[in-house]
Amino acid sequence: KRKEIQRLGVENGLDARLFHQAFISFRKYIMESSSVSADLHIILNDICCGAGHVDDLFPFFLRHAKQIFPMLDCMDDLRKISDLRLPPNWYPDARAIQRKIIFHAGPTNSGKTYHAIQRFLSAKSGIYCGPLKLLAHEIFQKSNDANVPCDLVTGEERVFANEDARQAPHVACTIEMCSTNTPYEVAVIDEIQMIRDPARGWAWTRALLGLCAEEIHVCGEPAAIDLVTELMYTTGEEVEVRNYKRLTPLTVLDYPLESLDNLRPGDCIVCFSKNDIYSVSRQIEARGLECAVIYGSLPPGTKLEQAKKFNDPDDPCKILVATDAIGMGLNLCIRRIIFNSIVKPTVNEKGEKEIDSITTSQALQIAGRAGRFGSSFKQGEVTAMHRDDLVRLREILGEAVPPVRAAGLHPTPEQIEMFAYHLPDATLSNLIDIFVSLSQVDGMYFVCNIDDFKFIADMIQHIPLNLRSRYVFCTAPLNRKEPFVCTTLLKFARQFSRNEPLTFDWLCRHTKWPLAAPKNIKELIHLEAVHDVFDLYLWLSYRFLDMFPDAVLVRDIQKKLDDIIQIGVCNITKLIRASQSAAAPGTDLKSYGRGSLANRLLREGLLTQEMLRQLESEWQDQHRNGNEEKEKIEPCPNSVEFLFIK
Ligand SMILES: Nc1ncnc2c1ncn2[C@@H]1O[C@H](COP(=O)(O)OP(=O)(O)OP(=O)(O)O)[C@@H](O)[C@H]1O
Ligand SMILES: [Mg+2]
Repeated sequence: KRKEIQRLGVENGLDARLFHQAFISFRKYIMESSSVSADLHIILNDICCGAGHVDDLFPFFLRHAKQIFPMLDCMDDLRKISDLRLPPNWYPDARAIQRKIIFHAGPTNSGKTYHAIQRFLSAKSGIYCGPLKLLAHEIFQKSNDANVPCDLVTGEERVFANEDARQAPHVACTIEMCSTNTPYEVAVIDEIQMIRDPARGWAWTRALLGLCAEEIHVCGEPAAIDLVTELMYTTGEEVEVRNYKRLTPLTVLDYPLESLDNLRPGDCIVCFSKNDIYSVSRQIEARGLECAVIYGSLPPGTKLEQAKKFNDPDDPCKILVATDAIGMGLNLCIRRIIFNSIVKPTVNEKGEKEIDSITTSQALQIAGRAGRFGSSFKQGEVTAMHRDDLVRLREILGEAVPPVRAAGLHPTPEQIEMFAYHLPDATLSNLIDIFVSLSQVDGMYFVCNIDDFKFIADMIQHIPLNLRSRYVFCTAPLNRKEPFVCTTLLKFARQFSRNEPLTFDWLCRHTKWPLAAPKNIKELIHLEAVHDVFDLYLWLSYRFLDMFPDAVLVRDIQKKLDDIIQIGVCNITKLIRASQSAAAPGTDLKSYGRGSLANRLLREGLLTQEMLRQLESEWQDQHRNGNEEKEKIEPCPNSVEFLFIK
């Protein structure tokens, strides 16, 4: 507890947290070991006899600390590697040219992207970087329709405008995929305010600092202007701001909807949970109205199909029920946005579930979808379902959007590789933890939350893989909440580590393809998860061509699956009814979530009876086959595999 000793600890790389952990471990070592080393024994004896001072223990304590935290011996090197203070220097190609930054700032539906894209189309070469596959697709389509050959690059897809697969001078991509080595005349970075996103912000920072283009057109909320200007100050590049106003008026109504009886054509009800989507669409159906449904986990084809149905003036379906997935990337003819609620469940930094009011930025983004320019509605309206929510919604919409203060960063594979060289025995997840705790960033940046990365790292820790491959697996896009997708990733990694190519047949066997149209919500959710599994396969196929050789066939069945899901979503109210009647009388979909984990997963459709049986038999096999598998699992009690088996 003495200050001098704590200071000595800090000088030797032990901050308060490490000091405490080392202290506990040292005490345990002394108390529990049957024989301590002779020199330590003598010191302890001297202290007990009053002939020594407790401070004499410090060298032994430090020796012990270095054993349990090997990084203490190479702290200077590690600090240097994890120094993230000058990100502009990571991109020498961009630093070698003089770039001009044009910031298109304004609210939603003000023509920001439109103007940036006009410049993109008129340039000799260009790159569009967007936050979503759907947006990249839209620009790819627009560009080719305007006779400007443009390729498409997303994590799971490459489409070449030229038949001979020669690169076209233009490309539309998801932002994580943009190249920082290829020179372009014009680059467009859309939705720049996402640079503050706790998980994905690093991709915007990388694009902004690293794209090699003479003109960089940045589109987004005015709240990001100051940060972008400051960042560009460090690179010595000029920023020109162009401000835009909304193209159509948007009115916040002074009355709530109150009842679904008051729905009108062109209405969109925004919910923040799938259960609310189910319950609202069922109530709409009970009133004899048809509705389209859009939420995040639907495949892109299904989302577009539902959007088309809702937009089509000749289709009787004139009501949309959606999550905030509509906030970006879809052209929808919405007259009025109705917030079903204004609270959104989120997961905080500690991984705990929290329910919070939506932010002003989110509310504006969603509300702004009403009265889209060019749609059949020239004016947008916004309201809430309930009166109390409307009062709060007005307040939220009236607040200023806080300025974006910092840009995200992410350790590179090279940095992690260098860490691994210094700390060969640490797990990848530990390497990341140590990296984050040692990393130094300056005030304009923050280190992104890498929980998804660590989740996968822990899950596949027991599978022997080289560090590069392990790193790639950990960056795979994965929804942690889908156990079927998680277990499949685990199987992919295991098969990969055995050097056995993951063939089309293997995948079909594993996913039980071909699959039938869903009969209830549980089956629909499972199909969505299978769609994600195919995405995962395609994503990996671009990184490990030899091991995931059947991308063409998988893309084919993924398209078919999208069609099957479309059929399911067209009949979603039927599926909801089927699920409700299967549930015990008096329970509704909201009561999902009670009972044992296995039962809950079964009810939610995340696990089928068949999967449960398979897991049970695998577990029993593992027991029968001795401890071989068990040994692999035990060091990693957080893995999904472990949770399931338990
Ligand atoms: N000058 C214009 N001429 C024709 N169409 C336009 C023009 N400006 C914008 N639009 C159309 O209006 C719609 C909204 O424009 P745009 O997508 O550029 O808005 P935005 O400000 O980028 O909005 P968001 O924040 O939602 O991305 C688009 O369909 C776009 O094609
Ligand atoms: Mg836009």
